[in-house]
Amino acid sequence: ERADALPQDLVGRHVLVSAGGTREPLDPVRFLGNRSSGKQGYALARVAAQRGARVTLVSGHTAGLAAPAAVDVVQVGTAAELREVVHAHARTADVVVMAAAVADFRPTTVESSKIKKGADEPSSVPLTRNADVLAELVEARAAGRLPAEQVVVGFAAETGDERGDVLTHARAKLARKGCDLLVVNAVGEGGAFEVDTNTGWLLGSDGSEQALDHGSKALLATRVLDAVRARLAPPR
Ligand code: CTP
Ligand code: CA
Repeated sequence: ERADALPQDLVGRHVLVSAGGTREPLDPVRFLGNRSSGKQGYALARVAAQRGARVTLVSGHTAGLAAPAAVDVVQVGTAAELREVVHAHARTADVVVMAAAVADFRPTTVESSKIKKGADEPSSVPLTRNADVLAELVEARAAGRLPAEQVVVGFAAETGDERGDVLTHARAKLARKGCDLLVVNAVGEGGAFEVDTNTGWLLGSDGSEQALDHGSKALLATRVLDAVRARLAPPR
């Protein structure tokens, strides 16, 4: 897609995107991580900038992605760092898109020296729950600490299981998180991790449901930003 062919419908808006995976240290040389490539979040940041937005990209670990043109990138390591940086930039954001794979847990203690095999080797890793950044943003907005008209977007990679199908889980997650839009990737059907295309749904807190056709991450970014644009208050 050529940048000059895109509508300049995000001029004057600040879009904050988180992308990639966090890494939770165990000791100076080891961490708990995840398989997020960061590609979808980077595509969102790139397309938002091409549509005229000022874009801040808070990036965890990615598959070696280059910073998109005209995007301000802040690198983070842990979920706690991502949380700090996202909250700081959210104060001025018109839109926050949480595309990052934020670790749900971190090792309860981080050893200051390398864990060694031997008599006192650990047999398990105690974990502590990390804060839910997306839920905190929604809470802060409701409490008046973030702009009331801010549009908050979450991502979810879901599989069906014995308790329900992908959409059932996704609707429940949207309700639980309280965000305005939830981008749902159906995984285990050739989608999501470490591939260049996605498939799923875009669910709105207004009850709207849009199927997202199988396409490039840039196309999905376009669909998501179209839905965001429709929810933005008129420019001041
Ligand atoms: N998220 C977040 N902070 C966390 C975990 C997740 O902000 N500590 C955000 C993700 O960036 C994503 C959304 O929440 O936008 C949904 O993430 P997901 O892992 O699907 O949701 P969870 O509530 O962690 O549910 P699950 O138990 O299924 O992992
Ligand atoms: Ca999670």
